[in-house]
Amino acid sequence: MTEKDFKLPDYSYDKVEGNVVYKSPSNIALIKYWGKKENQIPANPSISFTLTACATTTSITYKKLKAVTPDFQFDLLFEGLPKPDFKPKIETFFKRVETYLPFLKAYHFKIETSNSFPHSSGIASSASGMSAIALCLLEIERDLNPDMDADYFLKKASFLARLGSGSACRSIEGDLVQWGRHSGTTGSSDLYGIKYPYKVHDVFKNYHDTILLVDKGEKQVSSTVGHDLMHGHPFAKKRFAQAHENLDKLRPILEQGDVKEFIKIVESEALTLHGMMMTSQPYFILMKPNTLEIINRIWAFRSASKSNLCFTLDAGANVHVLYPENEKEEVHQFIKNELVAFCQNQQYICDRIGFGAKRLS
Ligand code: PMV
Repeated sequence: MTEKDFKLPDYSYDKVEGNVVYKSPSNIALIKYWGKKENQIPANPSISFTLTACATTTSITYKKLKAVTPDFQFDLLFEGLPKPDFKPKIETFFKRVETYLPFLKAYHFKIETSNSFPHSSGIASSASGMSAIALCLLEIERDLNPDMDADYFLKKASFLARLGSGSACRSIEGDLVQWGRHSGTTGSSDLYGIKYPYKVHDVFKNYHDTILLVDKGEKQVSSTVGHDLMHGHPFAKKRFAQAHENLDKLRPILEQGDVKEFIKIVESEALTLHGMMMTSQPYFILMKPNTLEIINRIWAFRSASKSNLCFTLDAGANVHVLYPENEKEEVHQFIKNELVAFCQNQQYICDRIGFGAKRLS
């Protein structure tokens, strides 16, 4: 599909009012997206586990205006309170998607949103937040076009979410989602994420992700700036090629349930992401001393116990500890005994692989 397929032929706005609610999860990349071209086109393909516990719930109440207005008309409430500092982000998103959702200036929207995870936990809410709002808006378009088919809906929801925040396009479906054109993956696209189309062994169907909150503060360098620093980065070309190679390598690993090889790719991807940050110009470090302490303890525990837990990192200091269902008791114990001490205020979130966003009304 191309961009123009996401523009429907003219339709009438004959619904006067309505309400839509979606709950959309976060996701954690196994092969990382870092670097982008114009219009949120990724510089390399990525793949993620969709999560369950970390999610955003968004309700949009819409009311037809007397006439189409020159500006977008919306109110924004975050956890029940007006949130003026989120408005510019939504405004930018509306501008980017307006050509694909032509009704946006014909309605007033009341957007009410809340996160399941604690505010300022250092967990990026852009993936869950942007996918939830994209789904609500597209559901309104479906209210106006009841013939929209389910496959088109999923692709367009991901397409719109991508325009809000790249990785948000991987939060519509589960359990494994790939985004970005890759010659080895049928149906893959730079425009939207797809449910991973190949066989996945049962061991990867109920993986756990315990998120250790190492640093809850504001990041010194935003993802937007970080992506941008991949332009002209001395190792960019090799890194983008490596992501393609890792996706090829991951296919038999996922199929056969080879957790040992899975660990090698996932941890290398996390460290490569941060390696790119450390070798950008200007260079920066998002890991904290406790991030490294946790990684070292995970490695020590793994070699002493033969456990199959591993770590991955987002663009931040928090550590995602990934492990199979059948190891959950011993890993929980290890986390409590050894890792929690390195979390800010001893905080962590127990999450697990999930199956995508859900409509709540
Ligand atoms: O979606 P963005 O622009 O916030 O970028 C997120 C990038 C990483 O989280 C670091 C990696 C990824 O693929 O999710």
